Amino acid sequence: MGDHISNSAGDVAAHMHSFTNLATHAQVGPFTITKGDGIFVEDDRGNRYLEGVSGLWCATLGFSNARLAKAGSDALYEMPYYHTFNGRSNPAAIKLAEKLLSIAPVAMSKVFFANSGSEANDSAVKLVWYYHNAIGKPDKKKIIARRNAYHGVTVAAASLSGLVSNHRDFDLPLSNILHTDCPHHFRYAEPGESEEAFATRLADNLEAMILREGPETVAAFFAEPVMGAGGVIPPPATYFEKVQKVLAKYDVLLIADEVVCGYGRTGEMFGSTTYGIKPDMLVTAKGLSSAYAPISAVMINEKIYSAVAQNSGNIGVFGHGFTYSGHPVSCAIALETLNIYEDEDIVGRVKALTPQFQAGIHAYEGRKYVGEVRGVGLLGAIELYADPASRRSFEPSLKAGPQLVEIGLTQGLIVRALGDVIVFCPPLIITSEELDDLFARFERTMALFEEKMG
Ligand SMILES: Cc1ncc(COP(=O)(O)O)c(C=O)c1O
Repeated sequence: MGDHISNSAGDVAAHMHSFTNLATHAQVGPFTITKGDGIFVEDDRGNRYLEGVSGLWCATLGFSNARLAKAGSDALYEMPYYHTFNGRSNPAAIKLAEKLLSIAPVAMSKVFFANSGSEANDSAVKLVWYYHNAIGKPDKKKIIARRNAYHGVTVAAASLSGLVSNHRDFDLPLSNILHTDCPHHFRYAEPGESEEAFATRLADNLEAMILREGPETVAAFFAEPVMGAGGVIPPPATYFEKVQKVLAKYDVLLIADEVVCGYGRTGEMFGSTTYGIKPDMLVTAKGLSSAYAPISAVMINEKIYSAVAQNSGNIGVFGHGFTYSGHPVSCAIALETLNIYEDEDIVGRVKALTPQFQAGIHAYEGRKYVGEVRGVGLLGAIELYADPASRRSFEPSLKAGPQLVEIGLTQGLIVRALGDVIVFCPPLIITSEELDDLFARFERTMALFEEKMG
């Protein structure tokens, strides 16, 4: 208890939080997690929670993996730091790059390391621009992303993101980053429009946007295979097939942001495989190290890499990179993470548990306040509505989603609310019995929520 009070006071006095209402934080105080084991975490009052979202969709191997702790510790003793500027390298970075190329869903040529999904996306944006200068197309610079997308918070990544709260009062998005339709069939389809017809309409809209802007000015399209923080939105049937046809027609690069989908989450090693996406660059982070160390990777195909390399030769340097790119400790942990995925057949595990997990969330279809249930693999969402039949949302001031999350905590369950979308993204090591436990806790949570809402 004493610890809890000093943690709270110290946090309020000294710590500025991410994605938090800073104005109310001083009253509310922090929710401080002090330890974890398997899929469970514990707060500073000794309460234990089943972590149903893997932290921020990232702690894929749970919170106490001894192999990862050892890999990090060994790496710290062996050589805690070296950089990758001026051709410097380290064995872990080399092995990790080789390993990533060997599991990439399409042929890739090189891997560039950064520290976060945001930095990786900013790097990909800069590569898009550098590449088009390199091939003598300096006007081909506009980038199209999607409304409701989430690609991170650095200047370019926040611009790619299609969420108002990432732009408002930050003077974003950058003017050459545009947004096309969000592919959420339930919300945006016309009455009676099939998923396929909706996908055709969205691909047509994308084509119209490219023609309006001038194909000679449109460089790239960024997309998450399944939209994550925008509300867990799997693509409608045939969407990526149709979108990729449009991109190919106008010579527009495709960048897959697999920061959430990568490493088994959707039931394949990459979401690109699940949805038949053939990206020119692929961005990953989170599950790359099971979040045990900050690291992200951009996989780059030969077409882009060779032009970029040649241009850097002309200029004298590729003027981009981070102090911690290819950090040996992060790379050692990521390499061990990928080894564990193989040793434990993580993709097979996800495939085997998917029917139970999807049945678990879909059991909430038809509940009093549930509008839509959606998901793929071990990723899912339940969207709350005040009146699902007429698709009337809850008043935003009611904060229905956050209220459900708070109730969940009383039942020892952590789920996340994105507005009124309740997200499930459990660690991939979850067992069948633990999934039953998750849904038992969620059922008590939902029943209490229904009671509260009347
Ligand atoms: C799809 C996607 N891209 C990028 C990011 C940004 O990653 P980071 O928070 O590591 O910068 C996130 C984070 O949630 C994400 O979900």
